[in-house]
Amino acid sequence: MELILQKVCGRSAQLPIRLRRCGPADAAAFFALQNEVRAAMPHPEQFVPDTLENITAYLREDLCIGAYDGERLGAYFILRYCGRSAHNYAAFLGVPREEWEHWANADSAVVHPDWRGNGLQRKLLEAALPLVRPGIVGIGATVSPENQYSLNNALACGFVIADRREMYGGYDRYLLKKML
Ligand SMILES: CC(C)(COP(=O)(O)OP(=O)(O)OC[C@H]1O[C@@H](n2cnc3c(N)ncnc32)[C@H](O)[C@@H]1OP(=O)(O)O)[C@@H](O)C(=O)NCCC(=O)NCCS
Repeated sequence: MELILQKVCGRSAQLPIRLRRCGPADAAAFFALQNEVRAAMPHPEQFVPDTLENITAYLREDLCIGAYDGERLGAYFILRYCGRSAHNYAAFLGVPREEWEHWANADSAVVHPDWRGNGLQRKLLEAALPLVRPGIVGIGATVSPENQYSLNNALACGFVIADRREMYGGYDRYLLKKML
């Protein structure tokens, strides 16, 4: 899907980019962008980073959308199918275990600071929705209550707050869900 960014580095622009489904060949770019963005965050505890090995596996098995300007990756979204594993956010949403395989995790969204302010977090989710595996009825997500940008975007995308609890070994998080 082609898009035109209206803002680059906070200034008015017209930059054509492409949103596309990504695979294992994109792993190094995803990992590098994750690390660059997290290193620049004033509160890095709001984003729990992942290993290159895990990101490669998500690119192989799950649904990952990247936003590219030619060769440069500037944003991505990862949606994971966790099935009956305890990583499935459905486990924390009161969904019976037999139904977990019908739930996906909105795992992470990252936009490079240069590209922020174009609603890309929302656009990446919108690009992913038509590609979600048939049979998925709901998406779970976690957001730090302090992460106003991510929280606002999730609420604007139709997620609702279902709970607030400690996750990932002691981080305060809202648990959100969106029915498809
Ligand atoms: C959360 C995130 C993906 C949102 O990026 P985005 O989709 O470009 O954000 P929006 O287009 O909704 O931005 C709306 C406004 O907030 C600003 N904004 C967005 N994220 C910001 C941030 N992290 N810091 C400061 N300002 C930010 C934008 O510049 C824009 O301002 P404007 O209206 O004056 O132009 C991005 O901030 C990010 O990558 N954060 C780090 C990783 C993270 O926390 N991910 C979510 C959890 S997995």
